Amino acid sequence: KIESSLRPQFLEDYIGQEKAKETLKIYIKAAKERGEALDHVLFYGPPGLGKTTLAGIIANEMGVNMKITSGPAIEKPGEMAAILNNLQENDVLFVDEIHRLNRQVEEVLYPAMEDYAIDIMIGKGATARSIRLDLPKFTLVGATTRAGMLTAPLRDRFGVVNHLEFYTEQELKTIILRSAQVLGVEIDERGALELAKRSRGTPRLANRLLKRVRDFAQVKYDGVITEAVANYALDLLDVDKHGLDHIDRNILLTMIEKFQGGPVGLDTLAASISEDAGTLEDVYEPYLLKTGFIQRTPRGRVATEFAYAHLGIPYSE
Ligand code: ADE
Repeated sequence: KIESSLRPQFLEDYIGQEKAKETLKIYIKAAKERGEALDHVLFYGPPGLGKTTLAGIIANEMGVNMKITSGPAIEKPGEMAAILNNLQENDVLFVDEIHRLNRQVEEVLYPAMEDYAIDIMIGKGATARSIRLDLPKFTLVGATTRAGMLTAPLRDRFGVVNHLEFYTEQELKTIILRSAQVLGVEIDERGALELAKRSRGTPRLANRLLKRVRDFAQVKYDGVITEAVANYALDLLDVDKHGLDHIDRNILLTMIEKFQGGPVGLDTLAASISEDAGTLEDVYEPYLLKTGFIQRTPRGRVATEFAYAHLGIPYSE
C-alpha cells in the first residue's frame, strides 16, 4: 500500500516530464469530453523514469481499469486475442517492453489498434478463411527503452508518442521530499538535494536510495535524513557524487585503461565488461551520455576529459 502510493495517481501529483504531462492533459480531456477511448500512447526512454506510473495515471484520469502485461509474457497470438477480448470499453492495456513482442503476437495488435477488431482464421488449407471479431474500444499504452527497436507498422499505430527525459535535480528533490512524507521519514532540504544529485536523474532510483538512507538515519543517527547522513549512507552504498555506481565506473575505467579512452565499439566494450550490449546501450549509456562522461562518435564511444577528471586519471589528447 505504501509502496504503491510512492507513485502519483493523478497528473496533478506527477512531478517533471512537463511536456508529456501538458500534452496528455489535453488529450485526456478531449477524449473524455467526446466519451471516447484515448488514442494509443507510446512512452520510450531509459528505465525508471515513470512509464508505468504514467500509464496508471492515464487510466485513473480516464476513469477506467488498467490491465498490465509485457512483451516477453505473451507467447501466442491467442493469448493476446484473449486479453484484448476481455477488456472493458475504454480500458487501458499497458504493454511493458513492447519491443519484445514476437511477430505473430504483434500482428494481432495491428487491426486491434486500428479498427478495434481481431481477425481469426477458421479452417485449414483451401477452405481457410478469416472472420473478424469486434473488440471493445481501448487504449494501448506501450513502453520501451528505445523507440528505434519497434517495427515501423507498430510504431505508426501510436497516435501519441512521448520521449521521457531524465529528471532535473530540483524535480528529483521535490519527488524525494514527497516520498519522504509518504514514508513518514524526516528529511531536510540539503539531505533531499544530496539524494537527488546522486539518483542519476531517475525517480525509481531516488525512491530506492531514500529507503536505504532512511535505514541508516534510523539505526545510526537520530532518524532525520540530513546531508551528512545522506553522504555517509550513499558513500557506503557505493553511489558516487554524480550518482555513478560501480558498473558505471567500470565502464569508464575500461574505456580509459583498455581502450585509451576510445573510440571503442559498443559490442567490444560490452564484451570486455561482461555486460549485455543491449543493457549497456539502454540502461547505462544514456545517463553517461547525458552527464557528459562519454560521447558517441561515428567510430565508437569515447571517454571525455570530464570522465578522466572524475576518476582522477590524467588526461592527454
Ligand atoms: N514518484 C515516482 N515518480 C514520481 C513523479 N514523477 N512525480 C511524483 N512522484 C513520483
